[in-house]
Amino acid sequence: MSDDSISIVRRCVTLDRTSKVPLYRQLYRDLRRAILSSQLLPAMRLPATRPLADELDLSRNTVQSAFDQLKDEGYLDSHVGSGTYVSQEVPDDLNRVRGQTHLRRSVRPTAPQRLGPPDESQLSERGKCLTDLQLSFFRAGKQPRAFQPGLPALDAFPLDTWSRLTSRRWRSVPGASLGYRQTAGYPALREALSEYLHNSRGVHCSPEQVIIVSGTQQAITLAAHVLLDPGDRVWIEDPGYPRATGAFQWAGAETIPTPLDAEGLDLEAAHARGADARLAYVTPSHQYPLGMTMSLSRRLELLTWAERSDAWILEDDYESEYRYEGRPIAALQGLDNAGRVIYAGSFSKVLFPALRLGYLVVPQALVGPFRAAKSLIARSPPLAPQMIVTDFMTEGHFARHLRRMRTLYADRQSALVEALEETVSDLLTVHSEKAGLHLTAFFRQSWSGRAVSAALQDQDIVAPPLSFYAAESLDRDGLVLGYGAASKDDIRKGVHVLKQTLLKRQP
Ligand SMILES: Cc1ncc(COP(=O)(O)O)c(C=O)c1O
Repeated sequence: MSDDSISIVRRCVTLDRTSKVPLYRQLYRDLRRAILSSQLLPAMRLPATRPLADELDLSRNTVQSAFDQLKDEGYLDSHVGSGTYVSQEVPDDLNRVRGQTHLRRSVRPTAPQRLGPPDESQLSERGKCLTDLQLSFFRAGKQPRAFQPGLPALDAFPLDTWSRLTSRRWRSVPGASLGYRQTAGYPALREALSEYLHNSRGVHCSPEQVIIVSGTQQAITLAAHVLLDPGDRVWIEDPGYPRATGAFQWAGAETIPTPLDAEGLDLEAAHARGADARLAYVTPSHQYPLGMTMSLSRRLELLTWAERSDAWILEDDYESEYRYEGRPIAALQGLDNAGRVIYAGSFSKVLFPALRLGYLVVPQALVGPFRAAKSLIARSPPLAPQMIVTDFMTEGHFARHLRRMRTLYADRQSALVEALEETVSDLLTVHSEKAGLHLTAFFRQSWSGRAVSAALQDQDIVAPPLSFYAAESLDRDGLVLGYGAASKDDIRKGVHVLKQTLLKRQP
């Protein structure tokens, strides 16, 4: 490897070792920027990871992670045995209208222009934080066959019932209800939800405390803006849900990655890392992504902490409806006597994600501020879908759909576990609770999850690496495998592709 390429790359990289942004992410960002601004030219060969790591005083894994991500996104190509190159056609170039005047005159662009990386000097401090967030591991493309986490069985959704309820509603909707609506959402839906949450999740609330939002994502963003000041500290689960971390960081909060043990969030570690935290974000019914359930004693400890420190707990109950064995575990909110828990639920997994409906249950004292925040962000939620969901719930379709889906997902989970055990048990260890829409599988060898995921995605299999969800490095990387939207046939074929992909990485 020529010293030249090392010094060219060296000039493109400025690392800030005091920043909260992980070093691999800074390196990825600088190299991407250099490629888009033609400091690194198409087909240029990059230095090997080891000498570059030495030059930049980084670990080789850090450089490898940045390279892997650039490869996943199409900025770099690697050829076995001959190194890593800048791609001939980098992704953002495909959408950029080049500077030739003849082209501008004769060709009207059909796609919207994308102009490469943003000019950060134009952004607010909050806006700058957005350029560093990586919220999804998937490349847009074909519908994957398996194993996209968090996606329910869209083909099993009773669309005929849904369309019947929809047309019935629109036939009879009074004109007067088409004006501006209540910020907190359709009253009949809030009533149906408070009853449902009481009966099925042990949540204590009046309909007044329920606020309809467009999915848990909006619930988390609202909570972050209503409850946190810039610089406030938030305990987040590590590994955890990147879109929650992103929402807290966007609100200016400092996220404190907190390890997990078999009982959930490790509170001793949380206190050691940030005793003055203002909020804890948790997924107690089915930790995302590792899957453990928070024990009762840990729940009580967390509630005691929140009460004593005047702090908040944001409970994300994203797929608690899916438990395939044993009794359902009641929500943390139902144990809270001090009004410290903000509860968030979603229709994304139990109905479908494109519906964009979810709900918050907030302590009585926070109803006013949350409603005002909701009103400023989106006024009221769209009326028609709320009406249809209300009918779906109150006329028994919801309960029926959930029963059918529990059987289907339990079946798909067993099919995946069996296929993994039969086919790849010498390469992976599988961790699976009898709940949810995904499981985790850890590599038995020290493979890079990003590299394995990228190779799988080239074969239309989506399986994000565990390291994508982790703020601190894991002892072993692995994959998150969703089975909700994959048929048994897709599961078998997917596991076969997984096996072939892993075998190629064997020394
Ligand atoms: C941990 C977690 N929370 C919440 C959600 C649901 O988000 P939303 O309701 O915004 O679709 C998901 C979906 O993937 C999730 O994984």
